[in-house]
Amino acid sequence: MMFDLNPRVEDWRGRRVWIVGASSGIGAATAQRLLKEGARVVLSARRPEQLAEVAAGHANAILYPMDVMGDDIWPRAIQEVSDKLGGLDLVMFLAGRYDAQHSWEIDAEAVQKSFDLNVVSLYRALATLVPALLKQGSGGIAITGSISGYTGLPKALVYGATKAALINLAESLYFELAPKGLSIYLINPGFVETPMTAANDFKMPGLMKPPAAADAIVEGISRGRFEIRFPRSFAGGLRVLSRLPYLLRFSILHRTTGL
Ligand SMILES: NC(=O)c1ccc[n+]([C@@H]2O[C@H](COP(=O)([O-])OP(=O)(O)OC[C@H]3O[C@@H](n4cnc5c(N)ncnc54)[C@H](OP(=O)(O)O)[C@@H]3O)[C@@H](O)[C@H]2O)c1
Repeated sequence: MMFDLNPRVEDWRGRRVWIVGASSGIGAATAQRLLKEGARVVLSARRPEQLAEVAAGHANAILYPMDVMGDDIWPRAIQEVSDKLGGLDLVMFLAGRYDAQHSWEIDAEAVQKSFDLNVVSLYRALATLVPALLKQGSGGIAITGSISGYTGLPKALVYGATKAALINLAESLYFELAPKGLSIYLINPGFVETPMTAANDFKMPGLMKPPAAADAIVEGISRGRFEIRFPRSFAGGLRVLSRLPYLLRFSILHRTTGL
């Protein structure tokens, strides 16, 4: 049985949503789904032409191109987006990068870039966003982890570590901010067919299309879930696996990945 940890969102019409990482993949599909639901959506990422393609001239879409790695970008961005929408009901962080690395081929520069984009830029955003939402007295924050953050996996020693950090961060945020009236969501996708996974040279179990991922995200938030993981069986299976004693966990992982 699942319990709602956040208030339900019964009606998306007029909801003020900001999606960071909206130019492709899961973020783009989520923006399109929310626009269809009647939300007002600000779309951010670095590539303005891709954002425009995703928004497709929708009357409720506002483009706000930005590089989340820009120096001191967040205070101004949060103020401007909030002004454009007249407040913020939900900010969704979907920007991210994936560097497939084995433990014998660690590239320190790529490690730095992954942690900077996936983790540090988010803390930088939260430093301004959390006080702003607390002042507003309402609002939600959705953080995108990954099921690869549940347990150590082959070739995921950098990406998985950034996502494990985000899972922990989302849990901490929930503890501290839910009692203060904010909604916190942790999105943990399995494999989704996006530019990020295009270079994967292995069969991705449970591979989903971005619109299906967006449906799962919107449904999860509508129902007030804290953790939104998908696809259900593969993600749920890995979650259970991650709770097993190491001896059993590692042996199952070796057998199933063949590594
Ligand atoms: N696909 C999967 O199987 C999968 C699985 C688990 C978790 N996830 C997570 O889901 C999220 C979305 O991934 P995706 O698969 O949809 O990947 P994607 O299609 O590559 O999308 C990544 C998004 O991040 C934006 N972005 C990257 N660097 C940025 C920067 N410096 N500033 C602003 N925006 C930036 C990209 O836009 P620009 O290039 O235009 O800036 C793009 O919109 C990520 O957090 C990813 O880790 C994905």
